[in-house]
Amino acid sequence: MDQLIPVELGTVQETLLITLAGRARESVKPKPILVDPKAVEIMAALDNPSASLTRGSRRGPEPTVLRTAILDTWVREFLAAHPDGTVVEIGTGLNARFERVDNGRVHWLDLDLADTIALRRHFFTDTERRRMVAASALDDSWFDLVAALPGPYCFVAEGVLLYLPEAEVRAALTAVAARFPDATVLFDHYSADMMRHQHRMADKGAMDARWAWTGGEPESFAAQGLRVTDSRAITDPPPALRRSLPRGYRVLLPVLHRVLPKGFGLARFRTDSAPPA
Ligand SMILES: C[S@@+](CC[C@H](N)C(=O)[O-])C[C@H]1O[C@@H](n2cnc3c(N)ncnc32)[C@H](O)[C@@H]1O
Repeated sequence: MDQLIPVELGTVQETLLITLAGRARESVKPKPILVDPKAVEIMAALDNPSASLTRGSRRGPEPTVLRTAILDTWVREFLAAHPDGTVVEIGTGLNARFERVDNGRVHWLDLDLADTIALRRHFFTDTERRRMVAASALDDSWFDLVAALPGPYCFVAEGVLLYLPEAEVRAALTAVAARFPDATVLFDHYSADMMRHQHRMADKGAMDARWAWTGGEPESFAAQGLRVTDSRAITDPPPALRRSLPRGYRVLLPVLHRVLPKGFGLARFRTDSAPPA
């Protein structure tokens, strides 16, 4: 790509740079948790992306990268059970999860707000099995598009829901669960301490976007029709991921898991079954 691509995004939308930059940095480490050539390619093609959003550590495990790796693992597990199912990446940003986990059969929707999708279209192309949709996670305008694709369904929202108002997120999840019974839903949540830390970082000017809530306790989503099927701190990855991590991480993570507060978690849910007709 000869011409650098400008980043013209809203306040929450530009947080996609944090995760993108993390995956690009991880990919060139000698012993990475994941390799994401698309993230490296995109970072090199962006025109002067915000330094405060793209800086990070070149050593040690990065929490957002571990989060991505755990969600990749759960999506791969969904695809192992349902190779022809559909994955909906809610608030996709510039994530290349499709490229990382594609089994050659999955159908996929990448959903995000219009400005993010416009930027995304510089780097990704719609295909027969995969397309981008400009829409909000908080409305149901995209439900029919999903329903037209083969089930079962897996909805993933990585680093998205906590920026949106809790009541609206819970209403949106209720609508997803009602329309898509027996679906898999994956998202992240945090402790109150982590939220205070994020607000302090925002106050110091590290970013403009502030979390609206912690993302909620996993069990609390039973009221929305979501039952927890797995729940873990990012320092406690699922066995399939743990086995594939570089040895240093396999030693370090259990230690971190014992000593660190459990402030950064991920949950896997199943939506309730449809009531008998
Ligand atoms: C921290 S970024 C995470 C991006 C991506 N999930 C990742 O892990 O790289 C937050 C994302 O949420 C998206 N977003 C914010 N509000 C949204 C909404 N109402 N509906 C859908 N996506 C939204 C932003 O555009 C941005 O891509």
